[in-house]
Amino acid sequence: MFAVSRAVAGPLGLQEMLSRALAQVIPILHAQAGWICVLRNDGDCEICVGQWDSELSKAQLSACCRGCPACEEARRRGQPYIVSTLPAGCVLSSRIPGLSSHVLAPLQVRGQVVGMLNLACAEGVTCFCKEDLVLLEAVGRQIGIAIENARLWEELQHKEEIRGELLRKVITAQEEERQRIARELHDETGQALTSLLVNLRLLERAQTPAEIVSQTQEMREIVANILDSIRDLAVELRPSVLDDLGLVPALSRYAQECTKRLGIQVDFIAAGLSQTRLPHEMETTLYRIAQEALTNVARHAQTNHASILLERRGHEVVMIIEDDGCGFNAAQALDTAGRAHLGLFGMRERAELVGGRLVVESAPGGGTTVSVVIPLQKESLCLTDSTPNASAAQSSA
Ligand SMILES: Nc1ncnc2c1ncn2[C@@H]1O[C@H](COP(=O)(O)OP(=O)(O)O)[C@@H](O)[C@H]1O
Ligand SMILES: [Mg+2]
Repeated sequence: MFAVSRAVAGPLGLQEMLSRALAQVIPILHAQAGWICVLRNDGDCEICVGQWDSELSKAQLSACCRGCPACEEARRRGQPYIVSTLPAGCVLSSRIPGLSSHVLAPLQVRGQVVGMLNLACAEGVTCFCKEDLVLLEAVGRQIGIAIENARLWEELQHKEEIRGELLRKVITAQEEERQRIARELHDETGQALTSLLVNLRLLERAQTPAEIVSQTQEMREIVANILDSIRDLAVELRPSVLDDLGLVPALSRYAQECTKRLGIQVDFIAAGLSQTRLPHEMETTLYRIAQEALTNVARHAQTNHASILLERRGHEVVMIIEDDGCGFNAAQALDTAGRAHLGLFGMRERAELVGGRLVVESAPGGGTTVSVVIPLQKESLCLTDSTPNASAAQSSA
């Protein structure tokens, strides 16, 4: 037992941990062959590691394991179970000569079977006995816990990888943003200021009042354009309305601007938050999530209509962004997005960083719903004026 617990201890991947466990168990129980199957999420059984002296392939054994009534029986009992006569046609007896007995020990964690330890012994060699079953039950529990730990470990590794990728992406995005601002300042604002300079020179040389009026008019237009583009740039970087007035007015304005910016019409409804300011970090988080979700609608959803609902529900703030577009396989996208598409991950990470949860629900043809729930600490709320909280603020773009 001690040898097994030592073998499965530590931050190991599933495969390595199971190999180590099997390498300890086979000699202790004098088995000739052994393998460990793990139950996948879809309920199917998959052989992860195995040791046997024959040409038998993992695929052949997997096929045999899949329909095996002995395995079903062991799963049902939730206890180690000895099969003294191998079923007729079992690949074990035909492929591993001399095998006579087979024991199956469910690997369990919190009463749930997560896998199966299989051992087989040969004819003439001592068969499995009752004491072995007691030992196997304990070993099964230990490996079961180790499977769960290994899965959590692998999940953590995967998350860490993605987090690193996100960080790299954030840095690249920051650089790209700086480049874009530099280009915009140089190309647009710089050029406009140059033509303003030219006009000023012409104004200096103006001979008649009519010329002066025409030059000033032209210059006024140029200045108005410069102001517009600088305002756009500033709003894009960080809308001052978010800092000055809070999330509800900022989202309301963003929703209105979506038609111009993204070509989609966005309805915005806010409830229970009209006189309240949320913590600064939470407001930024929700604003950026809405931006990313609506950019996704414009880019991918093939619709021109979406909605944002922002609502305080007791001790939580809920934001739901919905579109009636083409939809997609959200679970798969989050599972496989990896390097290239980090928008969905980024939204989820942002929500989790302020203690919230983000769920993306979508199916091909069925539109998409992005829901964020962030818990609120009462003391973190701040009233923006003394009037009682209005029942609902509603605005539609
Ligand atoms: N609202 C949506 N409607 C349809 N498909 C979507 C929507 N949001 C996301 N997707 C799909 O999910 C993928 C991943 O999205 P995301 O992580 O934001 O990456 P990106 O936008 O850079 O492609 C997109 O490429 C798209 O196929
Ligand atoms: Mg995106």
